Amino acid sequence: MRKQIAAANWKMNLTLEQADALVTEISNHNRKLGENHVVVFAVPFPYLIWVSEKTSNMNQFHVAAQNCYTKKSGAYTGEVSAEMLNSIGIKWVVLGHSERREYFGETNQMLSEKLNLALEYHLTPIFCCGEPLPIREAGTQNQYVEQQLRESLFGLSAEQIQKIVIAYEPIWAIGTGKTATSAQAQEMHAHLRKILASKFGDKIADGISILYGGSVKASNAKEIFSQPDVDGGLVGGASLIATEFNTIIDSLK
Ligand code: 13P
Repeated sequence: MRKQIAAANWKMNLTLEQADALVTEISNHNRKLGENHVVVFAVPFPYLIWVSEKTSNMNQFHVAAQNCYTKKSGAYTGEVSAEMLNSIGIKWVVLGHSERREYFGETNQMLSEKLNLALEYHLTPIFCCGEPLPIREAGTQNQYVEQQLRESLFGLSAEQIQKIVIAYEPIWAIGTGKTATSAQAQEMHAHLRKILASKFGDKIADGISILYGGSVKASNAKEIFSQPDVDGGLVGGASLIATEFNTIIDSLK
């Protein structure tokens, strides 16, 4: 059974005090998570240890970094390595978010290097892919994401690929209030699974969780998550509001 995942991407938001109130309200919410349900908080580096400690008694809650570097260690001022994350007990990392690709020049090749290091240090990468608006308008989104997967993931072994989670985030739906329809999400998720199957086989592709990201909110989560190839969501804006994110968690299938 694939893991169904509600992942919060806080991006560069919240003071410690605000983060404290948010995590408290989400942890205190009365819910019964299914056995295959996982909740992930991708938080800014300074909060990693603190959120980990705060959620340490919730065994289906995990904490993710939002990035790590392409090198093991060395003179790279301002960067954070996979080994450092591992050494403070972090088990997840978001890689290749479209904001990292767009503002920080991350390429498919760099992401392949980051994935290898993340896996070497026992981190579960949430690998993001997705097309910008002009590509969607030109109708070439399938080829676009295929290239992202080929160039970043196809160098992984069968054993490695089973340790990653994929997030499909159409850039035109991020922070715009414009969501892909559940049919568009399903179509792309099925396509992603087919690409994975072509390289790693049906059985492995069937076991990989693929999250949808892009204006997921309390009011649309259930419908999107109900699609057969959608295994939860990677949520930006709505993950900063406890009532919204609580409903999103409760919408996992
Ligand atoms: P929004 O949910 O704010 O559209 O952001 C999506 C996202 O980028 C999650 O990584």
